Amino acid sequence: MKILVTGGAGFIGSNLVKALLDRDDIHLVRVLDNFATGHLSNIEEFLDNPRFELVEGDIRNIDDCMKACNGIDAVSHQAALGSVPRSIADPINSHNVNVNGFLNMLEAVRAKGIKRFVYASSSSVYGDLNESPKVETRVGKVLSPYAATKMTNELYAEAYSKNYNLTIAGFRYFNVFGPKQDPNGPYAAVIPLFMKAAKTNVPPTINGDGSITRDFTPVVNVVNMNILGLTGNLEGSKHYVFNVACGATTDLLSIWNMIKEITGSTVDPIFGAVRNGDILFSLADVTHAKEVLGYEPNGDLRKALKFLAEYR
Ligand SMILES: NC(=O)c1ccc[n+]([C@@H]2O[C@H](COP(=O)([O-])OP(=O)(O)OC[C@H]3O[C@@H](n4cnc5c(N)ncnc54)[C@H](O)[C@@H]3O)[C@@H](O)[C@H]2O)c1
Repeated sequence: MKILVTGGAGFIGSNLVKALLDRDDIHLVRVLDNFATGHLSNIEEFLDNPRFELVEGDIRNIDDCMKACNGIDAVSHQAALGSVPRSIADPINSHNVNVNGFLNMLEAVRAKGIKRFVYASSSSVYGDLNESPKVETRVGKVLSPYAATKMTNELYAEAYSKNYNLTIAGFRYFNVFGPKQDPNGPYAAVIPLFMKAAKTNVPPTINGDGSITRDFTPVVNVVNMNILGLTGNLEGSKHYVFNVACGATTDLLSIWNMIKEITGSTVDPIFGAVRNGDILFSLADVTHAKEVLGYEPNGDLRKALKFLAEYR
């Protein structure tokens, strides 16, 4: 199998590339990335691998998408501008990359006769739905432009699967963390920020009083789901949507306390305001992924945080 990973120089993409290159049944892993938020250092270790290729390009440019799809059997589409606050500050850019770029990729997949496409959706599509745990069949109203882009992805994926005989799987990731996640910049995620704060012994800021909960998900689960989606037995002309999470919920203060204990940090957090567009409680039902793809989440957060603290 020859696989294209868009956004392969990013956090999730580069972890996926590594796992794909470790498999004998994958003959080529090609990355399409423009390094908007990803880093060459994330993929440097693969550059000498004869089964790895890098296409530097932009998903907003359909020619780049077409070129990247040449000779490819299946696509894992991870490229996007993440972060709810980024999308609130600059909705047009988020739309251009996350929606127009997504549509370009679907068009390239269609033009090149590729039959399998898996992609990164997001738990943000659950929006204001006041139910827990979240089940794939019920969503609420979106709370941010970012969520609107991911919801739009799901609509196009549905339409393309039906009209062009594609097998598509969308993954609603819930707060993923792990190695190669960028701790820098205004839109960094909470676990890399906490880890950086702990290691430099600078007090972290917790948005809210620490009681906000998330279904924090070690990146290995996301990697495994992508591989199951790319290689698993799924029907044609169908769009599947799966929660990708642990099916367990942890509050921010508990995460900080685990990181503090693991790293031996001595600082205490500062409590700030809750951010616009943030969901307060988040918990996934992962039954659908288990039943259809045989997904087995690894939910040992302490072990995953310890691994992350010792990484590099
Ligand atoms: N990390 C999470 O917790 C989380 C949660 C829900 C959904 N997601 C989604 O998962 C995917 C991967 O996220 P991540 O955390 O690895 O983010 P990331 O920013 O580390 O990776 C995104 C990659 O896409 C690339 N990219 C951005 N714009 C591009 C463009 N125009 N053309 C080509 N490449 C472009 C970036 O350079 C980067 O390498 C994204 O679609 C994101 O929305 C992530």
